Amino acid sequence: MLRIAQALEAQLVAALERAFPEAAASAREAGTPLDPQLAPASKPEFGDFQANGALPLARPLKQPPRAIATAIVEQLKADPAFADLCGEPQIAGPGFINLTLRPERLAAEVAGRLGDPRLGVPSSEGPGGGAPAPVVVDFSSPNIAKEMHVGHLRSTIIGDALARVLEFRGHPVLRLNHVGDWGTQFGMLITHLKQVAPEALTTADAVDLGDLVAFYRQAKARFDADETFQATSREEVVKLQGGDPVSLKAWGLLCEQSRREFQKIYDRLDIRLNERGESFYNPYLEGVVADLEAAGLLVTDAGARCVFLEGVSGKDGQALPVIVQKRDGGFNYATTDLAAIRYRFAPPPEGDGARRVIYVTDAGQASHFAGVFQVARRAGWLPQGARLEHVPFGLVQGDDGKKLKTRAGDTVRLRDLLDEAVERAEADLRRRLEEEGRQEDEAFIAQVATTVGLAAVKYADLSQNRITNYQFSFDRMLALQGNTAPYLLYAVVRIAGIARKGGDLEGSVEASSLQFSEPQEWALVRELLKFDAVVAEVEEELLPNRLCSYLFELSQVFNRFYDQVPVLKAQPEARPGRLALCRLTADTLRLGLGLLGIPTLERM
Ligand code: ARG
Repeated sequence: MLRIAQALEAQLVAALERAFPEAAASAREAGTPLDPQLAPASKPEFGDFQANGALPLARPLKQPPRAIATAIVEQLKADPAFADLCGEPQIAGPGFINLTLRPERLAAEVAGRLGDPRLGVPSSEGPGGGAPAPVVVDFSSPNIAKEMHVGHLRSTIIGDALARVLEFRGHPVLRLNHVGDWGTQFGMLITHLKQVAPEALTTADAVDLGDLVAFYRQAKARFDADETFQATSREEVVKLQGGDPVSLKAWGLLCEQSRREFQKIYDRLDIRLNERGESFYNPYLEGVVADLEAAGLLVTDAGARCVFLEGVSGKDGQALPVIVQKRDGGFNYATTDLAAIRYRFAPPPEGDGARRVIYVTDAGQASHFAGVFQVARRAGWLPQGARLEHVPFGLVQGDDGKKLKTRAGDTVRLRDLLDEAVERAEADLRRRLEEEGRQEDEAFIAQVATTVGLAAVKYADLSQNRITNYQFSFDRMLALQGNTAPYLLYAVVRIAGIARKGGDLEGSVEASSLQFSEPQEWALVRELLKFDAVVAEVEEELLPNRLCSYLFELSQVFNRFYDQVPVLKAQPEARPGRLALCRLTADTLRLGLGLLGIPTLERM
């Protein structure tokens, strides 16, 4: 109901101006125009919206708030556009104005959404024409040759959902995979590679280096145990940074192998990402240091070049530094992130020209980002109005509340985790088919199990408030009851069943044919019409769990409606309206789940 809320807001502001012209004029001059404080009603019995703006005006106007509310209401009622939208406003308590939309307006909103692929969600246009500025979402970002772990999985799932919401709202989104493809660990990896698989460096064919995680462990073990190996590894880093072709070739092979492994996970989860790893920013690191120097921010401390942070101090009360260049001249993670920020905001062709840059990582990196963000701001790299945001999330824990581990105590491999979700979904499905005496072919079973299993993993992650740690539990995420993917998917299936049983859920519908009378119908209408505001909220606050809670609530309101009100057997005058509500519920669930990266099923 975003558009309705906007219209109401404008009508309320105009009513305030007419009721209190002098106060309105001076407030406008002071740069704080009178605010009607319009908000969704806090309880259904208050109607659809409430305007609480009379209360804070009592003091400046030296009038009781109820009198102010009465004056606003008088003016509202004189506005024909308002009378079109709402019934008689009610003044409640000390001076709240409760507003209830006219039933025919609500029915018209429902009719307008039927067959609208955007379901009433406006697409935001770029300011003042021209190509709109992109939003960067930096997510997933595993490290080459290391395991992509559950933390990366969370980043991948949350980042993808945020990117989908932003894209749907009409922003060009750059989905960047800031993979860790540079750094001293490559010294030992390349040294190891040159020794164990020298042939890989001479052939032009693709070479399979096998399990890279095991490869990494072997290299690390040798590095820790063997001094000659250590020395060679250090030389190797220098060679790589100097652009030695053989070292570069080895580095490329390692990256390529990792990339193939990561891509399997992305394909499985239907996630698109553009790789732009840390190495991309190498040519810009010197420039970062020069810029910071020119801005007068650099301090040399014990040979390292740093920027001391304002308002952030360590245990000893000293300001904490962001180290930009180490004593040995090397750069680090923070330097690369500074180069990345500078590049992302810089106008094309030198940069991405972004206006909003979002990082999705575990909360453990919060101070890293707070530090580099502050340095970037002070260096003046952010254009006016630019937004730079860290989207932190908590740890994934096992049932025991500790870090997620396999029974044998190893870290859980993502591939195994996804496999297990699908296997369990399949076992659940087979059990259900057996109980219901249903026969389905293997292709159906495989498809449902895959969709449900992967949806359960994604949804379990997204439905948590991301800041808190979350306990990973296959049993909970696969349950058919509760705030789970199977519950939501099942609501869609239920509605698809109505169509199969002869309910017409397509075609255009006249608003006049939508007759609602039952409270369950009105509850569902009002819930359906909240969708656009929820999407806008996720775009703003970057909390996908808000969308999850909404979809769960919607499914519950729908199930109550469907259990209590006849649809297919409804009286002829009530049937079109009820079918329309079923259809809009299914469309909203499909679109909403789609924005979370979760496909739906027609049968399950
Ligand atoms: N590679 C890092 C890690 O695995 C995450 C990178 C996040 N993005 C960034 N621009 N720092 O923890």
